[in-house]
Amino acid sequence: MIRQNSIQTILDTVPIEGLIGEYVSLKKRGSNYIGLCPFHNEKTPSFSVSPSKGIFKCFGCGKAGNVVGFLMEHEHFNFPESLRFLADKYHIPIEEDQPDESDRASLDKQDSLYIVNQYALHHFQNRLFETEEGKTIGLSYLKERGFLEETLKTFQIGYSLNKSDDFSKTAMEAGHRLELLKELGLVKDYNNSLKDFFKGRIIFPIRNLSGKPIAFAGRVMSNNVKAPKYINSPETPVYEKGKTLFGIDLARTEIRKHDECLLVEGYTDVMSLHQYDIRNVVASSGTSLTEDQVRLIKRFTKHVTILYDGDQAGIKAAIRGVDIILKQGLTVYILMLPEEHDPDSFIRKSGTDEFKKYLQKNKQDFILFKTKEQVKSANNDPAQLSLIIHNVVDSIAVVPDPIQRSLYVRECAHLMHLDENMLVSEVRKKIRKILYDKGKLNTTERQKLNELDSNKQVAPRQANKIDQFYFFEKKIIRLILSYGDKIIENDTSVVASILSNLDGIRFKHPVYNQLLELIRQHYHASDHPVFADFYKHHADDQIRKACIELMTDSNYELSKNWSEKRGITIPTEEDNYVNDVISCMTRYNFLCLSDLIERNNEAMKTETDADKLKQLVKEHQILLDKRSTLGERLNIVIVSPDHKSRFDV
Ligand code: CTP
Ligand code: MN
Repeated sequence: MIRQNSIQTILDTVPIEGLIGEYVSLKKRGSNYIGLCPFHNEKTPSFSVSPSKGIFKCFGCGKAGNVVGFLMEHEHFNFPESLRFLADKYHIPIEEDQPDESDRASLDKQDSLYIVNQYALHHFQNRLFETEEGKTIGLSYLKERGFLEETLKTFQIGYSLNKSDDFSKTAMEAGHRLELLKELGLVKDYNNSLKDFFKGRIIFPIRNLSGKPIAFAGRVMSNNVKAPKYINSPETPVYEKGKTLFGIDLARTEIRKHDECLLVEGYTDVMSLHQYDIRNVVASSGTSLTEDQVRLIKRFTKHVTILYDGDQAGIKAAIRGVDIILKQGLTVYILMLPEEHDPDSFIRKSGTDEFKKYLQKNKQDFILFKTKEQVKSANNDPAQLSLIIHNVVDSIAVVPDPIQRSLYVRECAHLMHLDENMLVSEVRKKIRKILYDKGKLNTTERQKLNELDSNKQVAPRQANKIDQFYFFEKKIIRLILSYGDKIIENDTSVVASILSNLDGIRFKHPVYNQLLELIRQHYHASDHPVFADFYKHHADDQIRKACIELMTDSNYELSKNWSEKRGITIPTEEDNYVNDVISCMTRYNFLCLSDLIERNNEAMKTETDADKLKQLVKEHQILLDKRSTLGERLNIVIVSPDHKSRFDV
């Protein structure tokens, strides 16, 4: 445990503008700095850093925090990792509470294991690059396969001499304890004689998120020996197979940047793609994914694209285990490679640009892909078909987002030539079964709900959406006219913050839109906010009227009178304008997004062109993601019209 006073020292010492300045280009504005927010896409800067307060804040997406928070968000470090990173970078000594005896022992043990692995890694690298055997056998094999030295160095590839005790002898002479060498699986004891486990193999180090070697894989170089192609380190206190992904240390920032993780099977696939500048890629190492691995990916993105060989075995392998990914709320795409290829061979043949094009053009939503594949293989056999329905329903039912779910239902019903309502009720039944199995629903509830399904009613649509728009538009104009020149935080004024948020937006109310345009013009011409009085005397009749009306809003008056009469303070708009602006803009953005989603939904219903539909589905996903982020901030639980409560799933 890092002591509180050390944490404080770190927070007091680290210059926030210096740290963030390494990631974001910052410009000085008064006593603060501003720049483009690294957490969302924007063209005008709304990301502000305050050295005096030691915090950053983005007025666009709302992310805010101190130096530690910044690293947690940007680098996906956890709390202690961020602190250690900063302490290291700024040479701040940290004090830790004495761990107790057994903690200390296990920490010491882990440290020693890392040290030995690090030693082994250097040893194998040395053998690959500096020995005759390494160069003629190992290096020439790797080069023949097309790997550049730079790639080999990046992945710290090595070679273990074809000699029983080269490693064990050297390691022990260097003072490493046999016990640890054995525990790490680097050395084996055969009838009292020691033997290097990876003898005569190419070495692929497996590294954790922070780049430390935690295990090794060794590949034979000839394909016609009896020995297994790969052998691997055993599990140890520093290596849990199911929690690691090969390449994650190099891919993490790239995954975030592209908001997508490419998942391949093999070590060499990761290396090849990396060599060709496709770096948001990790390998599951041949086994199907575990929940822990999915959680690891989820720290960086919610979109996983699985790349598999285009043969039947590849398809089967891809389908296996995907429900685990769906269950965690990730969206899964699948890319089928041409039949004779794996990612490694395909990128070598196609090159970077063509590979990227192929990826964009051919990646498919996994659930839709699975449905299509199965419909194909069922060949209209009714018995097969009912099996498929169950299979598809199983995948849809684990998707946590109800809107996403109903989208799948619609698409899959179409693909299977089924009635949509029938599929809806199958999915609901399945969800109820899952809830029932978890003890969240009892038998009667489950039965009742299943019965209700047969005469379910469609929830009415919101009729007054346009009124909601008018409501917020009016409120936004009023906030600008009343508080436009006030500082919302740091150096940003209310009018600047709102206008940057409304970039490119037109209001639906014609007069409010006219007002908005006038405000924009005025602000851009003079860099000053505008005042209500200006518009109250405007030549245009309608503008004058609207302006007077919106400045004498009854709610606002009411709370003023109320506090005067009773002598108590109720937070009026005046006291509360910062919160008011933020909350009003967030809610307005939410409304706009919902509107877009609805329109996109309508378009998807009628679109018949496959490519356009794909594009719409993609946009839909992006909109949903945005809205759920906003929704979290508003604490709104998003329910689709069909799914009103827990019992109505
Ligand atoms: N694998 C393994 N043990 C084996 C075979 C495979 O652990 N005996 C794992 C490895 O992680 C390997 C992945 O499964 O990377 C995919 O296997 P494969 O496609 O056969 O290997 P590649 O990595 O593609 O190796 P290469 O291209 O050198 O044949
Ligand atoms: Mn391969």
